Amino acid sequence: MSEKPTEDEAMDKIEASRKAYAQARKQNSRARTAQDPLKIAVLISGNGTNLQAILDAIDAGDLPVEVVLVLSSRPDAYGLKRAAKAGVPMMSLDRETYKNPQVADDIIATECKQHGAEYIVMAGYMRLLGADVLDSFPDHVLNIHPALLPSFRGAHAIKDAFDAGVKVTGVTVHFANASYDKGAIIAQCPVAVREDDTQDTLEARIHETEHVLYPWVLKHIAAGDVTLNTETGKVHIDNADE
Ligand code: GAR
Repeated sequence: MSEKPTEDEAMDKIEASRKAYAQARKQNSRARTAQDPLKIAVLISGNGTNLQAILDAIDAGDLPVEVVLVLSSRPDAYGLKRAAKAGVPMMSLDRETYKNPQVADDIIATECKQHGAEYIVMAGYMRLLGADVLDSFPDHVLNIHPALLPSFRGAHAIKDAFDAGVKVTGVTVHFANASYDKGAIIAQCPVAVREDDTQDTLEARIHETEHVLYPWVLKHIAAGDVTLNTETGKVHIDNADE
């Protein structure tokens, strides 16, 4: 039988929940509209299909977000062509710059701030962001990962899941922190692995899922629905069934 808590213990509990409440941070203080969009910088390294899905959702009027900058870690990334086509400001860093990650981070933080970004949205950005960027945008850096974290972290998540023979894998959108693929999870969507799947067919369905999930998360952040409790590391989303 559990014992009745003493008055002190009860007070401690109340204090702890007050503290957790105070530390729970709404990710956006006002609901955004097309006239007052949430400004994001999108970081890419390759094809940029997630960037495209975000641009398409904005174009369709479904997402009160403005892409103020696309920054690529590779000058030859196809995603830069997508940014150019959409008329979005863009830039890329090269291998030489990344030889000193501190320099790269400093450029990224400065450029994102100068362009007025409120959030940094990593969409297939295959570099680790350092403290300079993360501290400049605390709890305002997002990442998408092609697996159900904490399973299959790293740069080959789809292959790793396929090779492991899992029956279900999926997609995760999470806050980024200094540890690769380890920040607070915002949303996940499962993808079933079929008997006749090849790695390519599985990858195609994972990408399709990503292209729905990332705009969905951004829509909820823009609406002010997303709260991160920095004490528990857990995320709450209001209106999650919409
Ligand atoms: C996406 O599948 C994304 O989840 C993955 O890179 C791909 C980029 O595609 N990111 C990671 O693996 C990060 N660990 P895209 O360039 O077509 O958006």
